[in-house]
Amino acid sequence: MANAIKTIGVLTSGGDAPGMNAAIRAVVRTALARGLNVKGIMRGYAGLLKEEIIDMDSRSVSDIIQRGGTILYTARCDEFKTEEGQRKGAEICRKHGIDGLVVIGGDGSFNGACKLSNLGINTIGIPGTIDLDIACTEYTIGFDTAVNTAMEAIDKVRDTSTSHERCSIIEVMGRSAGYIALWCGIANGAEDILLPERYDGDEQGLINRIIEHRKRGKSHHIIINAEGVGHSTSMAKRIEAATGIETRATILGHMQRGGRPTCKDRVYASIMGAKAVDLLCEGKSNRVVGYKHGDYVDFDINEALQMKKDVSEYQYEISKVLVR
Ligand code: ADP
Ligand code: F6P
Repeated sequence: MANAIKTIGVLTSGGDAPGMNAAIRAVVRTALARGLNVKGIMRGYAGLLKEEIIDMDSRSVSDIIQRGGTILYTARCDEFKTEEGQRKGAEICRKHGIDGLVVIGGDGSFNGACKLSNLGINTIGIPGTIDLDIACTEYTIGFDTAVNTAMEAIDKVRDTSTSHERCSIIEVMGRSAGYIALWCGIANGAEDILLPERYDGDEQGLINRIIEHRKRGKSHHIIINAEGVGHSTSMAKRIEAATGIETRATILGHMQRGGRPTCKDRVYASIMGAKAVDLLCEGKSNRVVGYKHGDYVDFDINEALQMKKDVSEYQYEISKVLVR
């Protein structure tokens, strides 16, 4: 098969996610194996506009598969949201001979990728975000590591919460999505899970459950609160005042975004990285790689961005059944 392109660029954009390095490595090595040149673009679209572009070879991605973060760094870039910025980005790609681009990031980054496709740069997106909030795919790079990190941290908070017979509110990331919260809620056996997709603000109902659980002999009450609901600290104060039970808030924060990627993140990132390059070699553009029904697939970026996704109602219901 004759390659439709000669040189590909790769960048990471938006929030970093464990496994992004594995995806970069796969992009670089698959491209080299297909006889292409590879250029790394530093700091996402911001680095593209500043022409922070480096040549990459097989050794430039040595010893990174096991590392969190992204060796290409990442950034958010408002200039690239403007038509002028996008035209400049496409021009810079052409100037450096980049005729295919792999963008590893979330929905925002895919919006940018779509604009570059429209300007003639063949572009493919790879879903990289801990939030799992990309509708076209059941899997996003970084989610597995992040939920495992959060789960382990919550186990530790639970130990001390039980010893002190306290109520604990633990806030997890996810931007406006509740996937990390729901998964941790189930995995940690939390008494309550507050999701932006479901929480109706009924704090009195929450307080009543805490009091009832205490009467039934539960020595702690763990509430997993999603970032999209927020206000964990003030909520803890109100719960303590209303129940008389000591209540503490813990906001896990950026620790959830770091650390060695799990096996799952490394493998999915590797396959997605390779697939992105193969799509470019087939002459495809404006596609995003996804994982659906047990297979790696790809979608038109515009269609992918229109898709909607919700947390599983069944999982949410069962999470409540399992706490007695
Ligand atoms: P994520 O990719 O994780 O969703 P952001 O929403 O912060 O993260 O987007 C990352 C970057 O993608 C932005 O800083 C910007 O440079 C670019 N981007 C976001 N939205 C658009 C858009 N509508 N058009 C062009 N570029 C965009
Ligand atoms: O999208 C990943 C994420 O970690 C979200 O969960 C969170 O809302 C956001 O990024 C935090 O962004 P920043 O690192 O800019 O504070």
